[in-house]
Amino acid sequence: MAKIQFGDVTEDVVTREEWPLKKALATLKGETIAIIGYGVQGPGQALNLRDNGFNVIVGQRKGTKTWDKAVEDGWKPGKTLFEIGEAARRGTIIQYLLSDAGQIALWPTIKPHLTKGKCLYFSHGFAITFKDDTGVVPPKDVDVVLVAPKGSGTSLRRLFLDGKGLNSSYAIYQDATGRAKQRVISLGIGVGSGYLFETDFKKEVLSDLTGERGVLMGAIAGVFEAQFKCLRAHGHSPSEAFNETVEELTQSLMPLVAENGMDWMYANCSTTAQRGALDWRHKFRDAVAPVYEELYQSVATGNEARIVIRTCSAPDYRVRLEKELAALGSEEIWRAGKAVRALRPGAGKAAAAKKKSAKRKASRPAAKRRPVAKRAAKKRAR
Ligand SMILES: NC(=O)c1ccc[n+]([C@@H]2O[C@H](COP(=O)([O-])OP(=O)(O)OC[C@H]3O[C@@H](n4cnc5c(N)ncnc54)[C@H](OP(=O)(O)O)[C@@H]3O)[C@@H](O)[C@H]2O)c1
Repeated sequence: MAKIQFGDVTEDVVTREEWPLKKALATLKGETIAIIGYGVQGPGQALNLRDNGFNVIVGQRKGTKTWDKAVEDGWKPGKTLFEIGEAARRGTIIQYLLSDAGQIALWPTIKPHLTKGKCLYFSHGFAITFKDDTGVVPPKDVDVVLVAPKGSGTSLRRLFLDGKGLNSSYAIYQDATGRAKQRVISLGIGVGSGYLFETDFKKEVLSDLTGERGVLMGAIAGVFEAQFKCLRAHGHSPSEAFNETVEELTQSLMPLVAENGMDWMYANCSTTAQRGALDWRHKFRDAVAPVYEELYQSVATGNEARIVIRTCSAPDYRVRLEKELAALGSEEIWRAGKAVRALRPGAGKAAAAKKKSAKRKASRPAAKRRPVAKRAAKKRAR
């Protein structure tokens, strides 16, 4: 463990230096890691683990586009790709990466395969923390752990291929074997984490649900809309309003914050911008603080979890979701965004290259596609 000062607190974190891949591989020698679900986290974690040399199989319901995607990625039916129950039977570590609603529906299929000494792994504290609503209660004689990458499975994979990594939190809910800590840290390193910081299942879910409803997704979309509408109401064109609201933020300012922090981004803007931002940030903070408190309470009382369980388990949920996303995309701000993105220098060339590569991939048999992933892994290893 490395002791690192974060703000006012010194925390223990695990980095790849103290827990190298070699140690993770040795710790999990003889284990079969069954990745259950091949949605967003599933492929990211499964492919990174496979490329890192772990023994991985995938469990996914057959006859779906997702099954076909797993085959495309090189998982072999009957060898490394199985129906969910069969993969859970074969796995000694079961990475439960179905959607949170799917985890509730499939629990009766998974539970009988959680025999003594196995390890049940989550990437979210949801199912366990809200067990009264989800019904997910693991047997006492298995390890129950969590590794939650702080980002999409797509980013986890992309960063891995670039030799980088997303940071992840880890937690232990149940240590039945005495090996839960070794197992969870090795899995965290194996899936391609940057550094790992410790949490518990409850803190993970409360911070995660607050974050995504807040500034990561909900709040940012709300603030974008409010500013865009204000500018449009005062006669500004959609192009001007979009550039001043979204494009400048994503293309210019947030990369500067990611690189060196908010003060550095401010320091690299005009004095006029700095002055206004330094004055107005307090007003925005105070305006949204009560909304954040309301949000945190709604998360902490389990209200948000119950909304997720009720709505996402409905049989017509996907159809309704598609309609909602289409409505979001058809708002003027995002229609303007589409036009702005198409005008980015090089956008035409990038779109043509993407189209060409998709066409080439589709016309090549799956068997010929698989070695490309292997070549990528070899290249990375060099
Ligand atoms: N997405 C993220 O960025 C992210 C980040 C960190 C942590 N997490 C956590 O990681 C876990 C997995 O999330 P995810 O976003 O990867 O999930 P997801 O994409 O929504 O998961 C979809 C997977 O679940 C399967 N599934 C859903 N309902 C099912 C059902 N009733 N029966 C059988 N299979 C079903 C889907 O199969 P079909 O395609 O056949 O329906 C697919 O394999 C969750 O706990 C999530 O909170 C996610």
